[in-house]
Amino acid sequence: MNMTSQTLREARKYEEAAEKNIAAEDRPAFHLSTRTGWMNDPNGFSYYNGKYHLFYQYHPYDCHWNSMHWGHAVSTDLLHWEYLPAALAPDESYDRDGCFSGSAVTLPDGRHLLIYTGVRKDRRELGSECEEQTQCLAVGDGTDYEKYENNPVISAKDLPEGCSAKDFRDPKIWRKEDGTYCCVVGNCLTDGDGQVLLFVSADGFDWKFKSVLMANKGRFGRMWECPDFFPLGDEWVLLVSPQDMLPEGFEYHNGNGTLCLIGEYDEEKGTFTPRHDQSIDYGIDFYASQTMQTPDGRRIMVGWMQNWDTCDFRAHDISWFGQMSLPRELSIENGRLYQRPVRELEAFRRNRVACENVCVSGEITLEGIKGRTVDMELLIRPKDGEDLYRKFAVRFAQNDRFYTSFSFHPQDSILKIDRKFSGSRRAIIHQRRSCVDSRDGRLRLRIILDRFSAEIFVNDGAQVMTAILYTPQEADGISFFAEGAVYMDVVKYDLV
Ligand code: FRU
Repeated sequence: MNMTSQTLREARKYEEAAEKNIAAEDRPAFHLSTRTGWMNDPNGFSYYNGKYHLFYQYHPYDCHWNSMHWGHAVSTDLLHWEYLPAALAPDESYDRDGCFSGSAVTLPDGRHLLIYTGVRKDRRELGSECEEQTQCLAVGDGTDYEKYENNPVISAKDLPEGCSAKDFRDPKIWRKEDGTYCCVVGNCLTDGDGQVLLFVSADGFDWKFKSVLMANKGRFGRMWECPDFFPLGDEWVLLVSPQDMLPEGFEYHNGNGTLCLIGEYDEEKGTFTPRHDQSIDYGIDFYASQTMQTPDGRRIMVGWMQNWDTCDFRAHDISWFGQMSLPRELSIENGRLYQRPVRELEAFRRNRVACENVCVSGEITLEGIKGRTVDMELLIRPKDGEDLYRKFAVRFAQNDRFYTSFSFHPQDSILKIDRKFSGSRRAIIHQRRSCVDSRDGRLRLRIILDRFSAEIFVNDGAQVMTAILYTPQEADGISFFAEGAVYMDVVKYDLV
């Protein structure tokens, strides 16, 4: 039986011992980080038996991507996480090369159903490899999961002609009101162009192909990974993580990107027609988002707070790699996706410091405003009757050697995050710019710092810029800077 396979037993034993080598203060305070070793995508994000469950792509044995397991943690508030034993290990013939990303749903009989991608590579003559990705199930009680005897449940034979069986992964399942199930899966055509496939099932076990939900047609990158599809307000939202993006203005950047499409779902035909597209996150480190619905009806998203293109930026003295973004509440406003930190974060706020109408010209610091676990809201505007300022910046994780900054140029409405001086010794991307909505130099920002990361929510969540940083924790200064004069309201809390 799977849950007692040797491979899983070893992983569970290993992680339990290795976790003890990581001090609590060497981890983020309220973002989920890997129990030990390596973490990538969030998986199986769900509410089950009174707790939030968040699984993740996991290689416990070292800090690099390798044969994928599923790590597991639970929480009652989405912020305090408790590790549970690893849930899945690559221990069957159909997933021996990895249990890739997937999702979870509760069955009517109360069991927790996981759906994931099983990866199997076969060596051919002359040393070439042939890889197949299939969709597989595991059923459990919230701690132990048993792989389904009829795995895989969706494989190459279920695919229409022209679809790749090698790039076919990351099933996201949901249960409809009528009790039947749907699932979207990332895929590409044999020429590499991305698409999302829709499958349907009466019971969650027996699946059949329904339709191509949406085809990329060469627009956004190539292979589409980690699709998620859900209603939000009066609209439908398709989130995907496309590989090999080309940049488009300030909206999309090169490499692994994040894409939010908002539009119309023709349920009968199983097709989605987007009206609006945008990046999910405009910063440096965000990928592979997944959502779930809370019992009180909120749609919450988390993403892997990393990106494949920037994984070489790592700390040398930390024996874990990979953390999740803050869980974010989603809404649609003015046709855009909005994201706000989950409201549960407000219970962490302590030591309020508020300053109104502070005039910033040159560099200033404010009494009581510093720290590396911080929730800070800023409203900036030009000084009445004076010329528009030329630049506004906030430096944080600062001491005499290091700082990370975001800066705003009101003339062209560009907000830039820059972590060049965060201690990195690698020549990889450390800056990103985003075009934000600002009238007359007014801008509203909320900055969440958690030891190794910064998430900047712009204009009440209309845009978010996320970046990780490994700057030594003693660099805890925060300063404000303006060229010209800026008026600023600040409210700052420590997050404890
Ligand atoms: C995205 C991804 C998924 C895959 C997983 C493997 O980051 O490439 O498509 O399932 O990571 O770990």
